[in-house]
Amino acid sequence: WFTDVKMAPPDAILGLTEAFLKDKNPKRVNLGVGAYRDDNSKPWVLPSVKEAQKRVIAKNMNKEYAPIQGLADFYNKSIALALGEDSDILKNNCNATVQSLSGTGALRIGAAFLGLFWKGERVVYLPTPTWPNHRPIFMHSGLKVANYSYYDPNKRALNEQALFESLCKIPEKSIVLLHACAHNPTGVDPNAEQWCEISRIMKSRNLYAFFDMAYLGFASGDIDNDALAVRIFSAEGHTFCLAQSYAKNMGLYGERVGSFTLVCNSKDEAERVTSNLKTIIRAMYSSPPIHGARIAMEIFKDDELYCVWLDDLKTMANRTISMRKELKEKLISLGSKHSWEHITNQIGMFCYTGLKAEQVSRLIKEYSIYLTKDGRIAVVGLTTKNVAYVAESIHAVTK
Ligand code: LMR
Repeated sequence: WFTDVKMAPPDAILGLTEAFLKDKNPKRVNLGVGAYRDDNSKPWVLPSVKEAQKRVIAKNMNKEYAPIQGLADFYNKSIALALGEDSDILKNNCNATVQSLSGTGALRIGAAFLGLFWKGERVVYLPTPTWPNHRPIFMHSGLKVANYSYYDPNKRALNEQALFESLCKIPEKSIVLLHACAHNPTGVDPNAEQWCEISRIMKSRNLYAFFDMAYLGFASGDIDNDALAVRIFSAEGHTFCLAQSYAKNMGLYGERVGSFTLVCNSKDEAERVTSNLKTIIRAMYSSPPIHGARIAMEIFKDDELYCVWLDDLKTMANRTISMRKELKEKLISLGSKHSWEHITNQIGMFCYTGLKAEQVSRLIKEYSIYLTKDGRIAVVGLTTKNVAYVAESIHAVTK
């Protein structure tokens, strides 16, 4: 049956980790995947998560199935974090929210729902560039994908004019994927005023927003700040989809903790939508895992532990920001003729360096520094021990 199945290409991001692990060079550095490391290049289990996990284990709970839509105390708090506790959407029960298998799982549930029920143009518009997994996620649900302008590679900044013009040209009743904060891969976000304009254009063009929120609290260390775009859209009366992940902001990567929300016009609509989200989930994986969601719930419900988590977010955000500064300063002190301002202007896990494909390939082959082909580096993989080597290597390939 499968004799003519061809080898699929390695994943653009996770494939790099596979190659990195095989590399014998002691100087090897993995700046491919967006996974936070401490200053010893080790994965960091957040102190708040360690304590929450202890408390979960001490409760000696059973391992029964979660309900199809997940643990209510988890997903209700999750959406409240994004929309704000005083959100009218929540007060009026207009949200259809379920637990998901992290951010990718949330996107999958939303894509499957839209694939079945979306009555507008069956096209999802993605920013150029975007996370490479967005395209297959929507295509697997029978939706078409197209692009809108976002980033200016020359200025290494948001291409405001092209973005607005491009949104104005999207056919009415299409779906538009928006990165809620810390755009991946560029680290370049619209400011508050620009988000208001995006909201205005999308309303006037009857465009439907699908927010991918993978970095709530991680980008700036402040939840309300990182939730700005979603809150502007809710205040402006949009209905939208929202995928949330706790991989980065709680470091629960492998636990697969997330939530999906579809904002509806009424409680009744939200109930009908939820019933269909449950049908989709049941056919995909029955019900979500419980351990990671229990950890998140412990953090949410205990004020003290919640404050420890907020501190953990700041620890991660601050280390990332200081690595950006160090990398930039080291490149300048090596005498690089290029401008590296964008390293500190961009936010979140990634820096979109502007390195060309040949330079990237030299960094991988000659220096064992792993980064994605588009020149994106995970700043969270830099440490005080490897930043000098990374700066020297970047300088060597950009001379
Ligand atoms: C990334 O972009 O590196 C992360 O979001 C991890 C992933 O799943 O690709």
